[in-house]
Amino acid sequence: MNPPAFPDPAGTWNQRFAADGFLFGTEPNVWLREHAGVWQPGQRVLSVADGEGRNSVWLAQQGLVVDAFDIAELGVAKARRLAAEHGVNVDFSVADCDGFAWPESAYDGVVAIFVQFADPALRSRLFAHIRRSLKPGGTLVLQGYTPRQLVYRTGGPPIESHLYTEALLRESFADLEFVELREYEAELTEGRGHRGRSALIGLVARRRVETA
Ligand SMILES: C[S@@+](CC[C@H](N)C(=O)[O-])C[C@H]1O[C@@H](n2cnc3c(N)ncnc32)[C@H](O)[C@@H]1O
Repeated sequence: MNPPAFPDPAGTWNQRFAADGFLFGTEPNVWLREHAGVWQPGQRVLSVADGEGRNSVWLAQQGLVVDAFDIAELGVAKARRLAAEHGVNVDFSVADCDGFAWPESAYDGVVAIFVQFADPALRSRLFAHIRRSLKPGGTLVLQGYTPRQLVYRTGGPPIESHLYTEALLRESFADLEFVELREYEAELTEGRGHRGRSALIGLVARRRVETA
């Protein structure tokens, strides 16, 4: 068995978030901003591995009821301050994606933006949690890098098995209804962490409503 790519994720990410400023900025991710219209104010959304809060705080500003978790307590502490500065409530937890108390069929939306810390085994557990936590009719909005990002190296882990292809996402979320799945390239300006020409993939997919 291969050793884990990130042996001390909480320590590594706490160290990154200990620096001044916001590693990925305070503006929401663009794919998320462009697709958040799938939800209505008052609906309940989870932001997975939310980091310093740029996505969860923006979602709360849109009138959504937001839960968020991250493994790095320093990231969550900054996210709490960002929410307070903007006068919004987010229910933050410090948790790793195996330990988070995932509720079943609870969310109108799940947001997973750059959660490519997960190797294939962790990813399959994480994606199963995401699928089960969506309500029937609830929508996943996900963004990651494709293997072409190994050429650009402007963000994300330089480990091919952590990156996403259309085929991988189609297979991982085969039980969902795909609203949009797109590989594309763009210039990212998300703080110091994601900056420059980037090879991206975005997914919007809905949990099916069972009909009798
Ligand atoms: C690239 S950052 C993205 C943060 C946030 N989603 C955003 O778009 O700003 C990856 C995040 O995953 C978190 N993380 C790493 N391993 C994790 C794990 N096993 N469980 C939960 N969060 C984890 C890190 O602390 C970090 O905040």
